[in-house]
Amino acid sequence: MSETLASPAQNVLEMIGNTPMLKVNNMDTGPCELFLKLENQNPGGSIKDRMALEMVEAAERDGKLKPGGTILEATAGNTGLGLALVASQKGYKCILVIPDKMSEDKIFHLRALGAECIITRSDVSKGHPDYYADMVARMAKEIPNSFHVDQFSNPANPYAHETTTAPEIWEQMGGKVDAVVAGVGSGGTITGLARFFNKVSPGTEIILADPEGSVLAEAVKTGTPATEVGSWVVEGIGEDYIPDNYEIKTTTKAYTIDDSEALAVVRELLIKEGIIAGSSSGTLIGAALRYCREQTTPKRVVTFVADTGNKYLSKIFNDYWLRDQGFIERKSTGDLMDIISRRHSEHAVVTCLPTDTIEIAFGRLKLYGISQLPVLSDKGDLAGLIGERHIIKATAGVKGSFALPVADAMDGTPPTVPLSTSPGEVVEILKEGTAVLVNDADGFHGLITRVDMINYISRS
Ligand SMILES: Cc1ncc(COP(=O)(O)O)c(C=O)c1O
Repeated sequence: MSETLASPAQNVLEMIGNTPMLKVNNMDTGPCELFLKLENQNPGGSIKDRMALEMVEAAERDGKLKPGGTILEATAGNTGLGLALVASQKGYKCILVIPDKMSEDKIFHLRALGAECIITRSDVSKGHPDYYADMVARMAKEIPNSFHVDQFSNPANPYAHETTTAPEIWEQMGGKVDAVVAGVGSGGTITGLARFFNKVSPGTEIILADPEGSVLAEAVKTGTPATEVGSWVVEGIGEDYIPDNYEIKTTTKAYTIDDSEALAVVRELLIKEGIIAGSSSGTLIGAALRYCREQTTPKRVVTFVADTGNKYLSKIFNDYWLRDQGFIERKSTGDLMDIISRRHSEHAVVTCLPTDTIEIAFGRLKLYGISQLPVLSDKGDLAGLIGERHIIKATAGVKGSFALPVADAMDGTPPTVPLSTSPGEVVEILKEGTAVLVNDADGFHGLITRVDMINYISRS
């Protein structure tokens, strides 16, 4: 426990910044010491709170944002959370345009903070009318008394990091920092860090951690951005162009980290250091670990836990999601087991008993966000399948029907195949039906839904 506690903050915005620094103890850092600045501990949950506050306050000072005004931004999520937080405290309206690859949990959080969220395509680039940054620029012209924050070129963004993040690091590290590793979304963080360290400690290396598919690492290495843009799963960093706020010449080295390495690092971080970080922190820490292990002399290296992993529980901390995305390999068994995402032998199938009420079955469908449940007897034998369509049939217009047993509503003879069936035969069944049960003399193995089959086809 720390010895002193600060006196109460008078407003949540005062709690932005002054984040703690943690030394990595249980991961392989070669001859180096690696430190993590815990930006997840900002009140909005990310490194972006700092620049959100600075950009809004700079706009107030410059008269660009007036009482009753609307804050507008194109954001991958965390900037939006910071802006929505600042807007809610200062009484502004906040409208955010968000690409559709962003975690749904982030959007729930934004809406709960009172922000209006407009979701747009993530598969289009700058110049396309649906590109998130172009859309918001258009809206800024149409909405009266609005202020387009434009984190990609707003000078208050790098300034926030130059004047808060970087000096905090310097102080916490006792003035000894050999390298700082950061990602680039808008470029604000890395540019602010570079400006500060170039002044106080020009020998400090400024290192880019870039997701595979982004064009920036190539631009650091060769002076020209990669011509091919890929896609990546980590959120908040990586770009298909060089944003104005990224002073790329100040970056001394770059590492490209693919999604599977980033996600493995995030999970290792939780197990070994007890910190639940977001996906992009895996890219950052992955790059920092590589840098550390390459060194031949001891160095003091700093990187960030840029946001909290609580926002990504259903993705990066969900084994089924990781498997569906191909990030976790399961040993192939060469039969339908390869397609069953949740196996009964692993206690992973959500089921119900024929004697459960329809209400219980419906509750489970809603809780797990699924549309059908295998029905198993108390001995574990397959008895049927109950889904939304069976529940509608059994309950519409029938008083008290939710108290009836599942056995009254289920399909007692659903499409069922043995484990030895070929995937092609299952595909034929799924062209008509929504699910196939896999059951044979060895018992019930699991369920194959259309989504499971599509995932299997896309993996192979
Ligand atoms: C989640 C996340 N957002 C943002 C950033 C940095 O973004 P920007 O370049 O906009 O400061 C990072 C990494 O440093 C990050 O991990």
